[in-house]
Amino acid sequence: MLSYIIKGGNKLYGKVKVSGSKNAALPIIATSILNEEPVTLYNIPDIEDTKITLDILKILGCKITRNHDKITICSKDMNKTAIPKELMHKLRSTVVLAGAIIGRFKEATFSYPGGCNIGARPIDLHLDAFQKLGITIDEKEDYIHCRCKEIIGKRIKLKFPSVGATENIILASVYAKGATHITNAAKEPEIKDLAKCLNSMGAKIYGAGTSEITIFGVKKLHKTEYKIMSDRIETGTMLGAVAGVGGKITVENTNPENLLTVLYSFKEMGCKITINRDKITLKAPNELKPVNIETQPYPGFPTDMQPIMGAILTKADGKSVITENIFENRFKYAEELIRMGANIIQNDKSLEIEGVNTLTGKDVMSKDLRGGAALVIAGLMSEGITKVENIEYILRGYENIDKKLKSLGANIKKEKVV
Ligand code: EPZ
Repeated sequence: MLSYIIKGGNKLYGKVKVSGSKNAALPIIATSILNEEPVTLYNIPDIEDTKITLDILKILGCKITRNHDKITICSKDMNKTAIPKELMHKLRSTVVLAGAIIGRFKEATFSYPGGCNIGARPIDLHLDAFQKLGITIDEKEDYIHCRCKEIIGKRIKLKFPSVGATENIILASVYAKGATHITNAAKEPEIKDLAKCLNSMGAKIYGAGTSEITIFGVKKLHKTEYKIMSDRIETGTMLGAVAGVGGKITVENTNPENLLTVLYSFKEMGCKITINRDKITLKAPNELKPVNIETQPYPGFPTDMQPIMGAILTKADGKSVITENIFENRFKYAEELIRMGANIIQNDKSLEIEGVNTLTGKDVMSKDLRGGAALVIAGLMSEGITKVENIEYILRGYENIDKKLKSLGANIKKEKVV
Protein backbone atom coordinates (compact mmCIF):
# COMPACT_ATOMS: atom_id res chain seq x y z
CA MET A 1 0.00 0.00 0.00
CA LEU A 2 1.31 3.46 -0.87
CA SER A 3 1.02 6.60 1.27
CA TYR A 4 1.94 10.28 1.15
CA ILE A 5 3.74 11.68 4.19
CA ILE A 6 3.09 15.41 4.42
CA LYS A 7 4.56 17.97 6.83
CA GLY A 8 2.11 20.86 6.76
CA GLY A 9 2.62 24.61 6.96
CA ASN A 10 4.76 25.41 3.91
CA LYS A 11 3.30 28.09 1.67
CA LEU A 12 3.52 27.32 -2.06
CA TYR A 13 5.26 29.48 -4.67
CA GLY A 14 6.29 29.08 -8.31
CA LYS A 15 5.00 27.66 -11.59
CA VAL A 16 3.57 24.26 -12.45
CA LYS A 17 2.41 22.63 -15.70
CA VAL A 18 -0.70 20.44 -15.46
CA SER A 19 -1.00 17.19 -17.40
CA GLY A 20 -3.51 16.22 -20.06
CA SER A 21 -7.11 15.66 -18.97
CA LYS A 22 -7.92 12.21 -17.54
CA ASN A 23 -11.60 12.65 -18.45
CA ALA A 24 -10.80 13.63 -22.03
CA ALA A 25 -8.09 10.97 -22.45
CA LEU A 26 -10.35 7.98 -21.71
CA PRO A 27 -13.06 8.58 -24.36
CA ILE A 28 -10.45 9.88 -26.84
CA ILE A 29 -8.41 6.67 -26.46
CA ALA A 30 -11.68 4.85 -27.26
CA THR A 31 -11.91 6.66 -30.63
CA SER A 32 -8.96 4.57 -31.85
CA ILE A 33 -11.20 1.49 -31.76
CA LEU A 34 -13.42 3.10 -34.42
CA ASN A 35 -10.48 4.02 -36.66
CA GLU A 36 -8.63 1.27 -38.58
CA GLU A 37 -5.86 3.74 -39.38
CA PRO A 38 -3.28 4.86 -36.78
CA VAL A 39 -4.39 7.38 -34.14
CA THR A 40 -1.54 9.34 -32.52
CA LEU A 41 -2.43 11.20 -29.33
CA TYR A 42 -0.37 13.77 -27.40
CA ASN A 43 -0.66 15.06 -23.82
CA ILE A 44 -2.07 11.73 -22.55
CA PRO A 45 -1.46 11.66 -18.77
CA ASP A 46 0.57 8.71 -17.45
CA ILE A 47 -1.92 7.65 -14.74
CA GLU A 48 -3.53 4.37 -13.68
CA ASP A 49 -6.79 5.04 -15.51
CA THR A 50 -5.11 5.54 -18.89
CA LYS A 51 -2.80 2.53 -18.26
CA ILE A 52 -5.79 0.25 -17.60
CA THR A 53 -7.66 1.58 -20.64
CA LEU A 54 -4.63 0.95 -22.88
CA ASP A 55 -4.20 -2.55 -21.35
CA ILE A 56 -7.78 -3.36 -22.34
CA LEU A 57 -7.15 -2.17 -25.90
CA LYS A 58 -4.04 -4.40 -26.07
CA ILE A 59 -6.10 -7.40 -24.88
CA LEU A 60 -8.67 -6.62 -27.60
CA GLY A 61 -5.89 -6.83 -30.20
CA CYS A 62 -4.80 -3.21 -30.68
CA LYS A 63 -1.13 -2.34 -31.27
CA ILE A 64 0.05 0.46 -28.99
CA THR A 65 3.34 2.37 -28.84
CA ARG A 66 3.98 4.92 -26.11
CA ASN A 67 6.74 7.51 -25.86
CA HIS A 68 6.11 9.65 -22.75
CA ASP A 69 2.82 11.48 -23.40
CA LYS A 70 2.72 10.49 -27.10
CA ILE A 71 0.69 7.34 -27.84
CA THR A 72 0.01 5.70 -31.21
CA ILE A 73 -2.81 3.17 -31.34
CA CYS A 74 -3.53 0.92 -34.31
CA SER A 75 -6.74 -1.10 -33.99
CA LYS A 76 -6.72 -2.52 -37.57
CA ASP A 77 -6.08 -6.05 -36.30
CA MET A 78 -8.38 -5.74 -33.32
CA ASN A 79 -10.16 -9.12 -33.07
CA LYS A 80 -12.09 -9.17 -29.79
CA THR A 81 -15.26 -7.36 -28.73
CA ALA A 82 -15.57 -8.50 -25.10
CA ILE A 83 -14.09 -6.27 -22.38
CA PRO A 84 -12.47 -8.47 -19.69
CA LYS A 85 -14.63 -8.39 -16.55
CA GLU A 86 -11.74 -7.98 -14.11
CA LEU A 87 -10.51 -4.90 -15.97
CA MET A 88 -14.04 -3.53 -16.48
CA HIS A 89 -14.53 -3.52 -12.73
CA LYS A 90 -11.23 -1.74 -12.21
CA LEU A 91 -12.33 1.27 -14.15
CA ARG A 92 -15.84 2.63 -14.49
CA SER A 93 -15.13 4.74 -17.52
CA THR A 94 -14.36 1.67 -19.66
CA VAL A 95 -18.08 1.65 -20.40
CA VAL A 96 -17.37 4.20 -23.17
CA LEU A 97 -15.22 1.55 -24.86
CA ALA A 98 -18.48 -0.36 -25.40
CA GLY A 99 -19.89 2.46 -27.53
CA ALA A 100 -16.80 2.49 -29.73
CA ILE A 101 -16.69 -1.33 -30.05
CA ILE A 102 -20.37 -1.48 -31.04
CA GLY A 103 -19.87 1.46 -33.41
CA ARG A 104 -17.27 -0.49 -35.36
CA PHE A 105 -18.09 -4.20 -34.85
CA LYS A 106 -21.88 -3.95 -34.26
CA GLU A 107 -21.41 -6.06 -31.14
CA ALA A 108 -19.83 -5.74 -27.69
CA THR A 109 -19.79 -7.66 -24.42
CA PHE A 110 -19.04 -5.94 -21.15
CA SER A 111 -20.08 -6.10 -17.51
CA TYR A 112 -21.64 -3.48 -15.31
CA PRO A 113 -18.76 -1.15 -14.50
CA GLY A 114 -19.47 -1.45 -10.81
CA GLY A 115 -20.14 1.61 -8.67
CA CYS A 116 -17.23 3.37 -7.13
CA ASN A 117 -17.08 5.05 -3.76
CA ILE A 118 -18.98 8.14 -4.80
CA GLY A 119 -22.20 6.48 -5.79
CA ALA A 120 -24.05 3.65 -7.56
CA ARG A 121 -23.00 4.92 -11.01
CA PRO A 122 -25.77 3.18 -13.03
CA ILE A 123 -25.54 3.01 -16.84
CA ASP A 124 -29.27 2.97 -17.64
CA LEU A 125 -28.99 6.15 -19.76
CA HIS A 126 -26.24 4.50 -21.85
CA LEU A 127 -28.28 1.30 -22.40
CA ASP A 128 -31.53 3.18 -23.18
CA ALA A 129 -29.65 5.18 -25.82
CA PHE A 130 -28.11 2.03 -27.35
CA GLN A 131 -31.60 0.50 -27.65
CA LYS A 132 -32.88 3.65 -29.40
CA LEU A 133 -30.01 3.26 -31.89
CA GLY A 134 -31.32 -0.22 -32.79
CA ILE A 135 -28.93 -2.18 -30.57
CA THR A 136 -30.28 -5.34 -28.89
CA ILE A 137 -29.17 -5.76 -25.28
CA ASP A 138 -29.13 -9.12 -23.47
CA GLU A 139 -28.02 -9.44 -19.88
CA LYS A 140 -26.65 -12.83 -18.73
CA GLU A 141 -25.18 -13.18 -15.22
CA ASP A 142 -23.63 -9.73 -14.91
CA TYR A 143 -22.52 -9.57 -18.54
CA ILE A 144 -24.22 -7.28 -21.05
CA HIS A 145 -24.26 -8.49 -24.65
CA CYS A 146 -24.99 -5.82 -27.28
CA ARG A 147 -25.49 -6.55 -30.96
CA CYS A 148 -27.21 -5.14 -34.06
CA LYS A 149 -27.23 -5.48 -37.85
CA GLU A 150 -26.53 -1.79 -38.25
CA ILE A 151 -26.82 1.34 -36.14
CA ILE A 152 -29.61 3.65 -37.28
CA GLY A 153 -29.23 7.33 -36.36
CA LYS A 154 -32.02 8.58 -34.08
CA ARG A 155 -33.10 11.56 -31.98
CA ILE A 156 -32.13 10.80 -28.33
CA LYS A 157 -33.30 12.98 -25.45
CA LEU A 158 -31.26 12.38 -22.28
CA LYS A 159 -33.17 12.55 -18.98
CA PHE A 160 -29.97 13.85 -17.40
CA PRO A 161 -26.95 15.43 -19.17
CA SER A 162 -24.76 12.41 -18.43
CA VAL A 163 -21.13 12.88 -19.56
CA GLY A 164 -20.50 9.17 -20.18
CA ALA A 165 -23.82 8.57 -21.91
CA THR A 166 -23.25 11.57 -24.21
CA GLU A 167 -19.78 10.24 -25.09
CA ASN A 168 -21.11 6.72 -25.70
CA ILE A 169 -23.88 7.94 -28.01
CA ILE A 170 -21.35 9.97 -30.02
CA LEU A 171 -18.93 7.01 -30.32
CA ALA A 172 -21.68 4.52 -31.25
CA SER A 173 -23.13 6.93 -33.88
CA VAL A 174 -19.96 7.82 -35.85
CA TYR A 175 -20.68 5.14 -38.52
CA ALA A 176 -24.48 5.11 -38.09
CA LYS A 177 -26.88 5.09 -41.05
CA GLY A 178 -28.33 8.62 -41.16
CA ALA A 179 -27.84 11.06 -38.30
CA THR A 180 -28.18 10.96 -34.51
CA HIS A 181 -29.28 14.03 -32.58
CA ILE A 182 -28.77 14.28 -28.80
CA THR A 183 -30.99 16.67 -26.80
CA ASN A 184 -29.95 17.57 -23.22
CA ALA A 185 -26.40 16.43 -24.00
CA ALA A 186 -23.64 17.01 -21.42
CA LYS A 187 -21.73 20.25 -22.20
CA GLU A 188 -18.45 19.46 -20.42
CA PRO A 189 -15.25 20.62 -22.23
CA GLU A 190 -14.18 16.95 -22.48
CA ILE A 191 -17.15 16.34 -24.82
CA LYS A 192 -15.94 19.15 -27.09
CA ASP A 193 -12.43 17.66 -27.05
CA LEU A 194 -13.81 14.22 -27.98
CA ALA A 195 -15.77 15.67 -30.91
CA LYS A 196 -12.78 17.74 -32.09
CA CYS A 197 -10.61 14.62 -32.05
CA LEU A 198 -13.21 12.55 -33.95
CA ASN A 199 -13.73 15.35 -36.52
CA SER A 200 -9.92 15.46 -37.02
CA MET A 201 -10.17 11.86 -38.30
CA GLY A 202 -13.14 12.53 -40.57
CA ALA A 203 -16.21 12.22 -38.37
CA LYS A 204 -19.05 14.74 -38.73
CA ILE A 205 -20.09 15.96 -35.27
CA TYR A 206 -21.68 19.37 -34.66
CA GLY A 207 -22.78 21.19 -31.49
CA ALA A 208 -20.45 19.49 -28.97
CA GLY A 209 -20.25 21.70 -25.90
CA THR A 210 -23.91 22.62 -26.22
CA SER A 211 -26.99 20.64 -25.14
CA GLU A 212 -27.83 19.83 -28.77
CA ILE A 213 -25.34 17.61 -30.64
CA THR A 214 -25.75 16.12 -34.14
CA ILE A 215 -23.63 13.25 -35.44
CA PHE A 216 -23.88 12.59 -39.21
CA GLY A 217 -22.80 8.98 -39.94
CA VAL A 218 -19.70 8.54 -42.13
CA LYS A 219 -18.32 5.47 -43.93
CA LYS A 220 -14.67 5.67 -42.94
CA LEU A 221 -12.19 7.50 -40.73
CA HIS A 222 -8.60 8.41 -41.61
CA LYS A 223 -5.44 8.61 -39.53
CA THR A 224 -4.92 11.57 -37.23
CA GLU A 225 -2.58 13.17 -34.74
CA TYR A 226 -4.31 14.99 -31.88
CA LYS A 227 -3.25 16.78 -28.68
CA ILE A 228 -5.86 16.41 -25.93
CA MET A 229 -6.94 19.26 -23.62
CA SER A 230 -5.31 19.94 -20.25
CA ASP A 231 -6.83 18.68 -17.03
CA ARG A 232 -9.18 21.36 -15.64
CA ILE A 233 -9.68 19.46 -12.35
CA GLU A 234 -5.93 19.08 -11.78
CA THR A 235 -5.70 22.84 -12.48
CA GLY A 236 -8.35 23.51 -9.83
CA THR A 237 -6.65 21.13 -7.41
CA MET A 238 -3.25 22.89 -7.69
CA LEU A 239 -4.86 26.33 -7.34
CA GLY A 240 -6.93 25.03 -4.43
CA ALA A 241 -3.82 23.79 -2.63
CA VAL A 242 -2.38 27.34 -2.69
CA ALA A 243 -5.69 28.93 -1.68
CA GLY A 244 -5.73 26.61 1.33
CA VAL A 245 -2.14 26.79 2.49
CA GLY A 246 -1.13 30.28 1.24
CA GLY A 247 1.35 31.59 -1.30
CA LYS A 248 1.20 32.40 -5.00
CA ILE A 249 1.50 30.08 -8.01
CA THR A 250 0.98 30.13 -11.76
CA VAL A 251 -0.55 27.09 -13.45
CA GLU A 252 0.63 26.82 -17.07
CA ASN A 253 -0.52 24.75 -20.06
CA THR A 254 -4.17 25.09 -18.99
CA ASN A 255 -7.39 26.71 -20.25
CA PRO A 256 -9.00 29.19 -17.80
CA GLU A 257 -12.29 29.07 -19.71
CA ASN A 258 -12.83 25.45 -18.61
CA LEU A 259 -13.12 26.25 -14.90
CA LEU A 260 -14.61 29.75 -14.65
CA THR A 261 -17.06 28.81 -11.86
CA VAL A 262 -14.14 27.44 -9.82
CA LEU A 263 -12.04 30.58 -10.40
CA TYR A 264 -14.99 32.74 -9.37
CA SER A 265 -15.33 30.78 -6.11
CA PHE A 266 -11.61 31.30 -5.40
CA LYS A 267 -12.17 35.04 -5.99
CA GLU A 268 -15.16 35.04 -3.61
CA MET A 269 -12.86 33.43 -1.01
CA GLY A 270 -10.51 36.42 -1.34
CA CYS A 271 -7.89 35.00 -3.71
CA LYS A 272 -6.34 37.28 -6.35
CA ILE A 273 -6.75 35.62 -9.77
CA THR A 274 -4.92 36.67 -12.95
CA ILE A 275 -5.81 34.97 -16.24
CA ASN A 276 -3.68 34.89 -19.41
CA ARG A 277 -4.24 32.77 -22.51
CA ASP A 278 -3.12 29.41 -21.09
CA LYS A 279 -2.02 30.51 -17.61
CA ILE A 280 -3.77 31.19 -14.32
CA THR A 281 -2.06 32.91 -11.38
CA LEU A 282 -3.58 32.66 -7.90
CA LYS A 283 -2.37 34.66 -4.89
CA ALA A 284 -3.88 33.49 -1.62
CA PRO A 285 -5.18 35.95 1.02
CA ASN A 286 -4.03 35.67 4.63
CA GLU A 287 -7.46 34.36 5.55
CA LEU A 288 -10.11 32.83 3.29
CA LYS A 289 -13.69 34.06 3.32
CA PRO A 290 -16.40 31.36 3.56
CA VAL A 291 -18.41 30.62 0.39
CA ASN A 292 -21.41 28.47 -0.58
CA ILE A 293 -20.97 25.92 -3.38
CA GLU A 294 -23.63 23.99 -5.33
CA THR A 295 -22.36 21.34 -7.78
CA GLN A 296 -24.16 21.24 -11.15
CA PRO A 297 -23.58 19.83 -14.64
CA TYR A 298 -21.23 22.00 -16.75
CA PRO A 299 -21.01 24.99 -16.91
CA GLY A 300 -22.08 24.86 -13.24
CA PHE A 301 -19.63 24.16 -10.42
CA PRO A 302 -17.93 20.79 -11.19
CA THR A 303 -18.63 17.95 -8.75
CA ASP A 304 -14.99 16.81 -9.13
CA MET A 305 -13.86 20.00 -7.40
CA GLN A 306 -16.32 19.60 -4.50
CA PRO A 307 -14.00 17.62 -2.16
CA ILE A 308 -11.12 20.01 -2.86
CA MET A 309 -13.29 22.98 -1.81
CA GLY A 310 -14.41 21.03 1.27
CA ALA A 311 -10.80 20.75 2.43
CA ILE A 312 -9.90 24.37 1.71
CA LEU A 313 -12.94 25.83 3.49
CA THR A 314 -12.20 24.03 6.80
CA LYS A 315 -10.06 27.04 7.79
CA ALA A 316 -12.14 29.84 6.23
CA ASP A 317 -13.25 32.69 8.46
CA GLY A 318 -16.87 31.62 8.98
CA LYS A 319 -19.49 29.11 7.81
CA SER A 320 -19.57 27.62 4.30
CA VAL A 321 -22.22 25.29 2.85
CA ILE A 322 -21.37 22.82 0.07
CA THR A 323 -24.26 21.05 -1.70
CA GLU A 324 -23.53 17.98 -3.88
CA ASN A 325 -26.22 17.55 -6.54
CA ILE A 326 -24.52 15.06 -8.88
CA PHE A 327 -23.36 12.03 -6.86
CA GLU A 328 -25.09 10.56 -3.83
CA ASN A 329 -22.04 9.60 -1.80
CA ARG A 330 -19.26 12.12 -2.37
CA PHE A 331 -18.69 13.36 1.20
CA LYS A 332 -16.68 10.38 2.55
CA TYR A 333 -13.58 12.56 2.92
CA ALA A 334 -15.39 14.75 5.52
CA GLU A 335 -15.05 12.20 8.34
CA GLU A 336 -11.27 12.21 7.86
CA LEU A 337 -11.18 16.02 7.92
CA ILE A 338 -13.17 15.99 11.17
CA ARG A 339 -10.50 13.69 12.67
CA MET A 340 -7.97 16.41 11.70
CA GLY A 341 -9.96 18.99 13.67
CA ALA A 342 -12.38 20.32 11.05
CA ASN A 343 -15.86 21.39 12.19
CA ILE A 344 -18.22 19.80 9.62
CA ILE A 345 -21.84 18.68 9.84
CA GLN A 346 -23.44 16.68 7.00
CA ASN A 347 -27.04 17.54 6.31
CA ASP A 348 -28.41 15.23 3.59
CA LYS A 349 -26.87 16.57 0.33
CA SER A 350 -24.96 19.38 2.07
CA LEU A 351 -21.90 19.86 4.25
CA GLU A 352 -21.96 22.76 6.73
CA ILE A 353 -18.33 23.73 7.37
CA GLU A 354 -17.56 26.10 10.28
CA GLY A 355 -13.99 27.39 9.77
CA VAL A 356 -11.42 26.53 12.47
CA ASN A 357 -8.02 28.08 13.17
CA THR A 358 -5.94 24.93 12.93
CA LEU A 359 -6.02 21.43 11.53
CA THR A 360 -3.81 18.76 13.12
CA GLY A 361 -1.87 16.22 11.07
CA LYS A 362 -3.25 12.66 11.39
CA ASP A 363 -3.12 9.27 9.66
CA VAL A 364 -6.04 9.48 7.21
CA MET A 365 -7.45 7.18 4.52
CA SER A 366 -8.26 8.08 0.91
CA LYS A 367 -11.69 6.67 0.03
CA ASP A 368 -11.88 7.87 -3.61
CA LEU A 369 -9.89 9.88 -6.13
CA ARG A 370 -10.91 13.47 -5.42
CA GLY A 371 -11.49 12.81 -1.70
CA GLY A 372 -7.89 11.60 -1.54
CA ALA A 373 -6.66 14.81 -3.18
CA ALA A 374 -8.70 16.77 -0.62
CA LEU A 375 -6.86 14.98 2.21
CA VAL A 376 -3.49 15.86 0.65
CA ILE A 377 -4.53 19.53 0.66
CA ALA A 378 -5.75 19.25 4.26
CA GLY A 379 -2.34 17.76 5.15
CA LEU A 380 -0.59 20.76 3.58
CA MET A 381 -2.84 23.04 5.66
CA SER A 382 -2.27 21.14 8.94
CA GLU A 383 0.20 21.49 11.78
CA GLY A 384 2.44 18.45 12.09
CA ILE A 385 2.61 15.28 9.99
CA THR A 386 -0.25 13.84 7.95
CA LYS A 387 -0.07 10.35 6.45
CA VAL A 388 -2.53 9.88 3.59
CA GLU A 389 -3.01 6.16 2.98
CA ASN A 390 -4.55 4.29 0.02
CA ILE A 391 -3.13 6.84 -2.41
CA GLU A 392 -3.68 4.31 -5.22
CA TYR A 393 -7.00 6.16 -5.63
CA ILE A 394 -5.13 9.44 -6.18
CA LEU A 395 -2.66 7.87 -8.62
CA ARG A 396 -5.65 6.95 -10.83
CA GLY A 397 -6.25 10.56 -11.73
CA TYR A 398 -3.23 12.72 -10.90
CA GLU A 399 0.16 12.39 -12.64
CA ASN A 400 3.03 12.98 -10.16
CA ILE A 401 0.97 15.26 -7.89
CA ASP A 402 3.57 14.85 -5.12
CA LYS A 403 6.44 15.95 -7.41
CA LYS A 404 4.41 18.93 -8.66
CA LEU A 405 3.53 20.05 -5.10
CA LYS A 406 7.14 19.50 -3.95
CA SER A 407 8.37 21.72 -6.80
CA LEU A 408 6.19 24.48 -5.32
CA GLY A 409 7.66 24.07 -1.83
CA ALA A 410 5.45 21.43 -0.23
CA ASN A 411 7.01 18.95 2.19
CA ILE A 412 5.52 15.72 0.77
CA LYS A 413 6.98 12.32 -0.01
CA LYS A 414 5.63 8.99 -1.23
CA GLU A 415 6.13 5.98 1.04
CA LYS A 416 5.55 2.28 0.38
CA VAL A 417 3.91 0.65 3.36
CA VAL A 418 4.40 -3.14 3.34
C1 EPZ B 1 -17.83 11.64 -15.66
O1 EPZ B 1 -18.40 10.52 -15.00
C2 EPZ B 1 -16.45 11.83 -15.06
N1 EPZ B 1 -15.64 10.64 -15.29
C3 EPZ B 1 -16.58 12.08 -13.55
O2 EPZ B 1 -15.27 12.32 -13.04
C4 EPZ B 1 -17.42 13.33 -13.34
O3 EPZ B 1 -17.60 13.54 -11.95
C5 EPZ B 1 -18.79 13.13 -14.01
O4 EPZ B 1 -18.60 12.84 -15.42
C6 EPZ B 1 -19.66 14.38 -13.90
O5 EPZ B 1 -19.00 15.45 -14.45
C7 EPZ B 1 -15.06 10.47 -16.52
O6 EPZ B 1 -15.23 11.27 -17.41
C8 EPZ B 1 -14.21 9.25 -16.67
P1 EPZ B 1 -22.31 11.18 -15.45
P2 EPZ B 1 -19.79 9.88 -15.55
O7 EPZ B 1 -22.75 10.07 -16.34
O8 EPZ B 1 -19.80 9.90 -17.02
C9 EPZ B 1 -26.02 9.48 -13.02
C10 EPZ B 1 -13.47 12.03 -11.58
O9 EPZ B 1 -13.29 12.20 -10.36
N2 EPZ B 1 -26.17 8.55 -14.15
O10 EPZ B 1 -22.41 12.59 -15.92
O11 EPZ B 1 -19.98 8.59 -14.86
C11 EPZ B 1 -24.79 9.16 -12.19
O12 EPZ B 1 -25.09 8.16 -11.22
C12 EPZ B 1 -14.74 11.38 -12.07
O13 EPZ B 1 -12.65 12.36 -12.47
C13 EPZ B 1 -27.31 7.73 -14.19
O14 EPZ B 1 -28.17 7.79 -13.32
O15 EPZ B 1 -20.83 10.94 -14.97
C14 EPZ B 1 -24.47 10.48 -11.54
O16 EPZ B 1 -25.30 10.65 -10.40
C15 EPZ B 1 -15.72 11.09 -10.94
N3 EPZ B 1 -27.44 6.86 -15.22
C16 EPZ B 1 -24.85 11.50 -12.61
O17 EPZ B 1 -25.74 10.81 -13.51
C17 EPZ B 1 -26.50 6.75 -16.21
O18 EPZ B 1 -26.68 5.93 -17.14
C18 EPZ B 1 -23.66 12.04 -13.39
O19 EPZ B 1 -23.08 10.98 -14.05
C19 EPZ B 1 -25.34 7.57 -16.14
C20 EPZ B 1 -25.22 8.47 -15.10
